[in-house]
Amino acid sequence: MKVSLSILTVDYFNIENHLTPILDDFEYIHLDIMDGEFVPNISFGYSLVGSLKKKINKVFDTHLMIKHPQNYIEQFVKAGSDYITFHVEADCDVIETINLIHSYGIKAGISIKPNTTVEDIQKYLPLVDMVLVMSVEPGFGGQKFMMNSIDKVKSLYDLRKKNNYSYLINIDGGINADTINHVKDYLDLAVSGSYVLNAPNPKENLKKLS
Ligand code: DX5
Ligand code: ZN
Repeated sequence: MKVSLSILTVDYFNIENHLTPILDDFEYIHLDIMDGEFVPNISFGYSLVGSLKKKINKVFDTHLMIKHPQNYIEQFVKAGSDYITFHVEADCDVIETINLIHSYGIKAGISIKPNTTVEDIQKYLPLVDMVLVMSVEPGFGGQKFMMNSIDKVKSLYDLRKKNNYSYLINIDGGINADTINHVKDYLDLAVSGSYVLNAPNPKENLKKLS
């Protein structure tokens, strides 16, 4: 299992200072894009993603928490995303949006909020490269891990095995050295933000997760 490091809760004026000391300790960077409509928060956009891409060589795991993801796929592809994950609860045609992401030759992910079940997305599972299970209500870092996400991760793991699907299983929200133990055996990736980047010793906490 690898960590996908979320920069949502860092001081954006000092991103480089936050990342430099741990640059060799993670492979995936998680970019939380929020539009203030789909979630009650506004974070950053494709310009910041593009600036980061010029500076660091990581797998860019872009998480669109926006109402109309289909309208911004091209911009996040051009900014350098390797994965673009959008919410099945957004205002878009899910299959068309998956196909649109794939048409640019990059990987497509779908994300489900805490109230959305794995049954709700079964028909999309053969089509996607990642499933991102939200273990918090999307919108803010530093929230408490929701235990109802554990069964979702387990059933995604079983469904992938049974049907020989190829999606990565990722989880997002409230991941720390304790909560990771509930799910790490079923995951390929785990998003972590505040537990690492807002800690006195980010390097140490990142190691505890890996
Ligand atoms: C919340 C974001 C999460 C968040 C993770 O909507 O999707 O990625 O940044 O934050 P922590 O790890 O601080 O819970
Ligand atoms: Zn996220």
